[in-house]
Amino acid sequence: MTEGPSLIRGLEGVVAAETRLCDLDGKNGRLAYGGYDIDELARHAAFEEVAYLLWHGELPRPAELAELKSALAAARQIPGDLSQGFRLMPRATDPMRALQAAVAILGMHDPDATDNSQAANRRKAARLTSQLATAICAHHRARSGKEPIPPSTDLSHAANFLYMLTGERPSAVIAKAFDASLTLYAEHEMNASTFTTRVITSTQSDLHSAVAGGVGALKGPLHGGAGEAVMRTLMEIGEVANVDAFSDQALATKRRLMGFGHRVYKAGDPRAAILRGMAEEACRQSGQFKWYEMAVKLHARINAAKGLIPNVDFYSAPLFYSLGIPVDLFTPVIAAGRIAGWTANIIEQHDDNRLIRPRGEYTGPGRRPWFPIDKR
Ligand code: ACO
Repeated sequence: MTEGPSLIRGLEGVVAAETRLCDLDGKNGRLAYGGYDIDELARHAAFEEVAYLLWHGELPRPAELAELKSALAAARQIPGDLSQGFRLMPRATDPMRALQAAVAILGMHDPDATDNSQAANRRKAARLTSQLATAICAHHRARSGKEPIPPSTDLSHAANFLYMLTGERPSAVIAKAFDASLTLYAEHEMNASTFTTRVITSTQSDLHSAVAGGVGALKGPLHGGAGEAVMRTLMEIGEVANVDAFSDQALATKRRLMGFGHRVYKAGDPRAAILRGMAEEACRQSGQFKWYEMAVKLHARINAAKGLIPNVDFYSAPLFYSLGIPVDLFTPVIAAGRIAGWTANIIEQHDDNRLIRPRGEYTGPGRRPWFPIDKR
């Protein structure tokens, strides 16, 4: 590029879109969806209400919530060829790779697949939110050599997810912890995966194509993949007594510690504080308190030494583990929450679209003569 604005690496600090969905105050460590503080939503709202808020801009009234809940429950089945496809995939396939393929296949079946109107996008958002949850669980069962557990129609979205994963109806306490986790992950402004969905949408492509791209972006360890990496770190440490030695070694070797640091939050991630409380409770109840203790000790050591703060993926790791979620399903679970925000961003982008097309700064050689192959 020879003229125009200068390069901003990683687009840090660049404002790429107007949004009414999420107010992220990185300086003060605050977060709100549609004006409602995340703390209140996580405590009091069901994930279905949060999804409605994101898709419609207002919290639902009772009849609206009932309608959404029944639409979500009615959409829980996935097409037979997708279930069959899961059985044919290599057993060792990363669940996020399977999920990305699943979203593409679900797009092939969706009756509104190519309709980008607001009404169709809301219908697709609800359908895909339901089907994504079923797909994650059905793939997990298939790779474990088990039959899928058909979705229930009388459980909440969160409780049904855990039911389809394990075959057991979760207790109210566990269902609430999982529901709140989905809410905490539901939306987060221009994070990498949401931005990806916006870029794809801006070409006037469709919702399923955009979500498939979002799944690919979320998979990376600098984004949604961090939660899984946190749990693997805790497992590597093994015992609370090993945290100090591990921390010294990690600091000495300048190791990048997953679950710490954030591009926008510099004073603290409000989601991490809420998840910490939930992790404490869940680890205690499940008899696996050591994971929480290790996380707290690691947090304190790393924060004292480097000033790094834990992000959303730090305390969600011991929380998800104690809820019985397999470690390599942590990122798909984040996708199961973030789908609400991805689809809300897709709706918002379609409603006021301009092609997202930044520039690159050319750093290659200057103009030079072309040589035929036998002269090179
Ligand atoms: N461990 C060790 N050092 C870190 C970490 C970390 N997790 N995060 C930042 N730093 C250090 C860097 O080494 C760098 O130090 P330096 O200036 O001495 O070189 C400084 O802090 C700035 O780091 P950057 O990578 O430039 O900060 P950036 O804003 O690009 O990074 C990111 C944000 C990618 C999240 C980073 O903190 C990181 O890699 N964290 C670990 C991965 C993670 O937890 N990702 C999940 C994010 S939340 C989410 O996506 C759901």
